[in-house]
Amino acid sequence: MSKPHVLLPGNYRPEEMMQLEAHFKLHKLWEQEYPKDYLKTHGKDITAIATRGDLGVKRDLFDLLPNLQLISVYGVGLDAIDLATCRARGIKVTNTPNVLSEDVADLALALMLAIARHIPQTDAFTRAGKWPAGPYPLLARMNTKRLGILGMGAIGQAIAKRASGFAMPISYYARNANAAVPYQHVASATELARNSDYLVAIVPGGSATEKLVNAEVLAALGPKGYFINVARGSVADEEALLAALEGKTIAGAALDVFYNEPNINPRFFNLNNVVLHPHGGSGTVETRAAMFDLVKNNLSAFFAGNALLTPVS
Ligand code: 8YV
Repeated sequence: MSKPHVLLPGNYRPEEMMQLEAHFKLHKLWEQEYPKDYLKTHGKDITAIATRGDLGVKRDLFDLLPNLQLISVYGVGLDAIDLATCRARGIKVTNTPNVLSEDVADLALALMLAIARHIPQTDAFTRAGKWPAGPYPLLARMNTKRLGILGMGAIGQAIAKRASGFAMPISYYARNANAAVPYQHVASATELARNSDYLVAIVPGGSATEKLVNAEVLAALGPKGYFINVARGSVADEEALLAALEGKTIAGAALDVFYNEPNINPRFFNLNNVVLHPHGGSGTVETRAAMFDLVKNNLSAFFAGNALLTPVS
């Protein structure tokens, strides 16, 4: 029996590629010099795409894939997938929820502590031999300070659970209050920022949350407040954020996500009040293996005519 044809906009790790090769005929788009011409020839054979959360599926590919029925995403975020087109064409979508929540929450706490205690900066200070000349300046405490979380889904809840261990009072802003959580819901992102020492973004990306953290929110966070973004670069107005960091109208930021990743704005590199991380909340061996298994098993279930493991409703 011939293998089902699967389009890959980007690659996975070599051992994972081998697993996919064993079951599917892979069309590796990143290897094609002229991807559109390639799809004009092969597009009709392709019924499924396996992609990553950061890559998604470019809008102009849909027209070249008349028989597309499934998009299996390695990641929980769906902002790089045109869900309206998928709905209209009856294309099913799967992602990798839950398996990554705890690791993304770990990174959020790591970034909060890293910016609070200037871990990269003090490491650089110590390595540069500056300690004998005098101590590093004192920094603000993190434990017991007020945490505001933008978004209270599975990852937001995992962050809150960890922050409770630091005795941080927690409030959150989400479009709908979640009656199942014991934290205070506030009416807007600005109100949340006003009541926070640490403001952590973990809302989905996309148009509904674009520039949610704008100049007004950053002003409300104020000169003693820290902003941590483990959501999507688009959630913050990056120009306003850079201006707030350069003007020190907020105390600092720790960022896992940016506009135009991985070619981020070089203005960040000149700032001492930021911690920069290369988009990788889910980047542990254990979580990435679980995410890959879901991608592969969703494809297998689809081609076997079985129920999908993690369909997006
Ligand atoms: C991954 C992510 O870094 O889950 C998401 O939405 O952004 C991350 O887990 C990404 O999908 C890996 O390519």
